[in-house]
Amino acid sequence: MIRCELPDADDRPLRYGAYIDRDELVPTHMRVFLLLASTLIAIAGLGCESNSTSGQIDPDQFIGDAPAVPVHISQSDIDDGKFSIPELIEHGELLFTAVFNTLDGAGRPESTGAGDSRIRRVFPENRNRISGPDSDSCTGCHNMPSAGGGGDNVANVFVRAQERDFLKFDGGDGDGESGLTLQSAGNERNTLGMFGSGYIELLAREMTEDLHSIRDEALLRARSGRTSITIDLVTKGVSFGSLIVDPDGTLGTDAVEGIDEDLIVKPFHQKGAVISLRQFTNNALNHHHGIQSEERFGADADPDNDGVVDELTVGDLTALTVFQATLPMPKFLPSTGPKAREALEQGQELFGTIGCSTCHMTELPLRSTVFTEPNPYNPEANLRQGDVKTLLEFDLRRYSGYLKHNEAGEFLVPAFTDLKRHDMGPDLDNEVLEQAGIPTNEWLTRKLWGAASEPPFLHHGRASLISEAILLHGGEAQASRDLFANLSDSEKAGIVEYLKSLQIESDG
Ligand code: HEC
Ligand code: HEC
Repeated sequence: MIRCELPDADDRPLRYGAYIDRDELVPTHMRVFLLLASTLIAIAGLGCESNSTSGQIDPDQFIGDAPAVPVHISQSDIDDGKFSIPELIEHGELLFTAVFNTLDGAGRPESTGAGDSRIRRVFPENRNRISGPDSDSCTGCHNMPSAGGGGDNVANVFVRAQERDFLKFDGGDGDGESGLTLQSAGNERNTLGMFGSGYIELLAREMTEDLHSIRDEALLRARSGRTSITIDLVTKGVSFGSLIVDPDGTLGTDAVEGIDEDLIVKPFHQKGAVISLRQFTNNALNHHHGIQSEERFGADADPDNDGVVDELTVGDLTALTVFQATLPMPKFLPSTGPKAREALEQGQELFGTIGCSTCHMTELPLRSTVFTEPNPYNPEANLRQGDVKTLLEFDLRRYSGYLKHNEAGEFLVPAFTDLKRHDMGPDLDNEVLEQAGIPTNEWLTRKLWGAASEPPFLHHGRASLISEAILLHGGEAQASRDLFANLSDSEKAGIVEYLKSLQIESDG
């Protein structure tokens, strides 16, 4: 329940979006809204009996145009324990499903999706399917089979096109560059789903912690022994190659594999380029919707000159993160038909014997299921642990689902990935632009849990069948792919049947 009884306006857990009065930029309907908003601010502290964020709003308060997000929450109220986890999830869901509009600050007339300034673009050029803003809601793309999931090809994104001014291919104003093609403008990617991603973020944090302590111990040993040493970078059974550590602290990273030199496991983006759900969310809000979060762009800042500041608060970002982190994990839902079940069992075994599980590791062990926010490895321009009074802490098992554990008491996350990047060969090396310095032929092992509920397949969504996706594997997966190709039709069907059982249980 959202507490609304606080009489002091400064101590309100909910607050309304702050609008700056910039006559030359603010359209008339927004000025009317400014008036409404200030009235709302005046009455918001007067007490309220509703038990939901959406229930907060008096239906008479927004007559005519209204923002999609009528209430915002503050991080200091979260730090002070004024919100329960279910309340944060509820507010996060409201934000994830909101269809943002001008009154929320949607659109970015004078800035790119990377936050740089650009030529002012207003109606009818306030949207651009390639450069973004390309949509009004997270669920516009993440909707399969329900909010937080993957997306159809129609929801594909042109990754990196958002860094430029608006792209047009008609040679008109806005191109800025000649000879640009759709392929060289951005990397077309299919939408991923976030079901179970709280566990994924926790796995990555523990792997990073392990790799950093392996590196730091080696540094101490090299210094005290005054000799260079080579150490294997292995965590949770996944090898990230090896590191040479010199006594003067120099690190030789030539043999490091599938991870950046900072040894931070980045489990998000199909390239493995993003550390946390929160970091991704800050990026996505600006890229897709032109919503600039306070923590990324600063309080009271209006980098896109749309007349709206603090479009989402730090507390809002925490709620959005908690909503995604607590999404239920995908399940094993096998067919009930006896023949299909038999095929599945054979496929399950073959999945191991032909080498699929060397990358798609069926289980990764997790020491703790307690999710803390913010992530200890967050890069700057995202909330960091030193920025909060107290860490938000909750056990994912209450929200994301039950996990088996091993004899060592570790929880087993059946995500079917090793969270490592691999060379996937020429057929999957179709992109022109490098992202975050990662070679174009390398991809993070795709999580297969939930894959069956989120077709189409592969980074670009070009495979409409699971078997098509497997046959496009190459590079480090070539041998395994060839073994698959040489199986009998019924054995191949068995592997597909096994992967078909990895599903997201839809709300319906
Ligand atoms: C226009 C479609 C689109 C919209 C709108 C969109 N996304 Fe995404 N999202 C994608 C695509 C495509 C990817 C995969 C990107 C990649 O890997 O290159 C993705 C990936 C993600 C990921 C990483 C998941 C993983 O496992 O790696 C997160 C987190 C995410 N989106 C959050 C959001 C949030 C939060 C919003 C709303 C603020 C949002 N997205 C809006 C298309 C979209
Ligand atoms: C060397 C590591 C590696 C091996 C071995 C491997 N895969 Fe993959 N797999 C990947 C990566 C990386 C991707 C993502 C590739 C992309 O999107 O371009 C992927 C994607 C997939 C997908 C697409 C999932 C989706 O939702 O889009 C399926 C299905 C799949 N693999 C099944 C298999 C099967 C079955 C085998 C064994 C025959 C196998 N893989 C072997 C690394 C591997």
